[in-house]
Formats: sequence, C-alpha cells, structure tokens
Amino acid sequence: MTADDKHIPVLANETLDLLMAPFDGKFCRIVDGTLGFGGHSSRILERNPQARLLGIDRDRVALNASAERLRFAGDRVTLRHGRFSDIRTHVQSAGWDKVDGILLDIGVSSVQLDTPERGFSYRFDGPLDMRMNPESGMTAADLLNQLPEDELSRIFRDYGEIRQARQLAREIVRIRTKDPFDSCGKFAAVCDRVLKQRGGPPAPTLPFQALRIAVNEELKELEEALSAAMDLLAVGGRLCVITFHSLEDRIVKHFFQDMAETCKCPPGCPVCVCNWDAKLQIVTKKPVTATEEELARNSRSSCAKLRAAERIEKDNQQHKTEGEKAR
Ligand SMILES: C[S@@+](CC[C@H](N)C(=O)[O-])C[C@H]1O[C@@H](n2cnc3c(N)ncnc32)[C@H](O)[C@@H]1O
Repeated sequence: MTADDKHIPVLANETLDLLMAPFDGKFCRIVDGTLGFGGHSSRILERNPQARLLGIDRDRVALNASAERLRFAGDRVTLRHGRFSDIRTHVQSAGWDKVDGILLDIGVSSVQLDTPERGFSYRFDGPLDMRMNPESGMTAADLLNQLPEDELSRIFRDYGEIRQARQLAREIVRIRTKDPFDSCGKFAAVCDRVLKQRGGPPAPTLPFQALRIAVNEELKELEEALSAAMDLLAVGGRLCVITFHSLEDRIVKHFFQDMAETCKCPPGCPVCVCNWDAKLQIVTKKPVTATEEELARNSRSSCAKLRAAERIEKDNQQHKTEGEKAR
C-alpha cells in the first residue's frame, strides 16, 4: 500500500508547479492549510529540500497520519491542529511573519468520506456527524433536529442548489418532532422519498453535501482564509486554491478578480481617487482541471478546479499619479 492509497492528491503536478516553481532551489516558507494525508505537502518537501512547511488540519486523524508521512523532512515541518481561517495565528505561532506560498485543497478527504463512523456519506449507515473536527461544533444530526425549517431550506437551496429544498426541509421538520435524526441511513431515506431522483447522482448526494458545508462552515472558512492570505503572503508569494464545488470556485474567482483590480473608482470618474493598489496578479486565467489520465486514475478529480495568483507590490502608483483610469 503506498502513501497515496488513503487519499490521492488531486492536480498534484499542476499545483506543485504553480505553487513552487518560483522557489525551486531556494529557501521558502509554505503553508498547507488543508494538510489532509500529506499528499501535496510531501511532494512540496521532496521537490525543494530548502522548503519549510507549516501544515494545518482541523482533523486530528489526518494530522497524525501526516506527521508520520512527513517525518522524513525532520524539522522542516511544523504541524498545527485547527482551522485554516485562523491561519494568521498559526503562522505567528510557527515564528513566521510572511510566507511564500499558501495552498488550500478545500473539502473532505477520501478517508473522511469512506469512514462510516464519521457520517459524511449516504453509502454507509453511520452516525449523522459530518464534523471535520469531531472535537467541537454541532453535528449534522444537531442541525437537522434543531434548525428552523426556513434555515434548513436555505441550506439545501444555497449549498446544494436543490429545487425541492422547501419540501425536503418541511418533511425533516415533520419527522423530527416524533423521531429525531441520528443516522445517515435515515436522512438518506428521506432524501430518496422526497427528491425522487430520476437519472443523475443518487438523491442524497446534494443534501449530504449541503449539510456538510453548513456543519463545517466551509464557505465562511474559505472567505476568511483568502482575506488573511493577503496579509501573510510576501511579494512574489503564490496562493493556490483547489475547489470541488461551484460555490467555492466562484468565491475564489471573484476574490482573485477583486484583488487584481487596479482601480475601484466608480465608472466615469475622471481622476482616480480610490487609492486602491492591486494586491494580486492572476496566474491562471482559467481554472486548471484534471487531465484524461488523472480522471482515469482518480474519479474525485472530475470536479476539481485549481486557481493560482501571485502577491504583487503596489503596482499602480504610476497609473494613479497620471490620473489614468483602468476602466
Ligand atoms: C481534500 S483534503 C486535503 C488532502 C491533501 N491535500 C492531501 O493531498 O492529502 C482536505 C483536508 O482539509 C481539511 N480541512 C477542510 N477544511 C478545513 C478548515 N477550514 N481548516 C482546517 N482544515 C480543513 C480536512 O479535514 C481534510 O483533511
């Protein structure tokens, strides 16, 4: 069994090139905010023997497995248990000020999905938990049993893009008053009954995904980490984000576009008065996706999108003094 058998890192070569190429053979400090089973991190450390790595994960099982896997790199590795939205604190506690690269490989690992006791998948009848960090926060069952119908409906609509979100929420509220939710099997059966899927993925797929996003506050985590990354990245440093969901990819795309703008004055304003400096240069004009070869090896890569951007200096000073408008 190879180290990648637990979780195959997606878009590994593409990520390594985008994140590490500027630093080949040079000292650099890289943060892997979603360490998982160390698939990307081990390649980072192997590619550049000068690289130092800070790995963060909110799942202790993943963190412990990675500690073992990354032992070969000795004191080049520092690991932290926690959320990547707290990246500023983790970087500080590692004794770093600025960093040269940040990687976020958003979502769940294959190990989390395939462990019935973690309750992430409708394929097993485990406890309905879904917490990436089982030490804190509300479980998926807690949300189903306690949230108001409107909030459940919003979660299914916004995070799962489910047309019958309202019907599903109503049925959950009806059932839970007599018989609270506790298992994946019970929730999956309700999804099957209400959504009556014909063709496409099995009916529980999107409700499970939506609930998981809510349990782990995944979109908020991403937004906070992107914003913190702007303070932490050194000029020339790279930010690489891999997403598996259109909502997450949209957040990354819009954030990159926003940070790459050279002027934020209203259209038609004759002289630039906004004092805005572009913070990022987008490296991947379009998201990078898996090759046919990777798709054949790892079906999980089919929804993966990788975007990369580079932290830049204040670059629009000249444009501002000349009063020229970018748009
Ligand atoms: C897709 S896996 C990463 C796999 C890793 N790149 C590898 O190659 O082994 C995502 C990991 O990020 C962790 N994770 C997700 N959201 C997180 C967050 N907000 N803070 C910290 N860790 C998070 C999950 O627990 C999971 O282990």
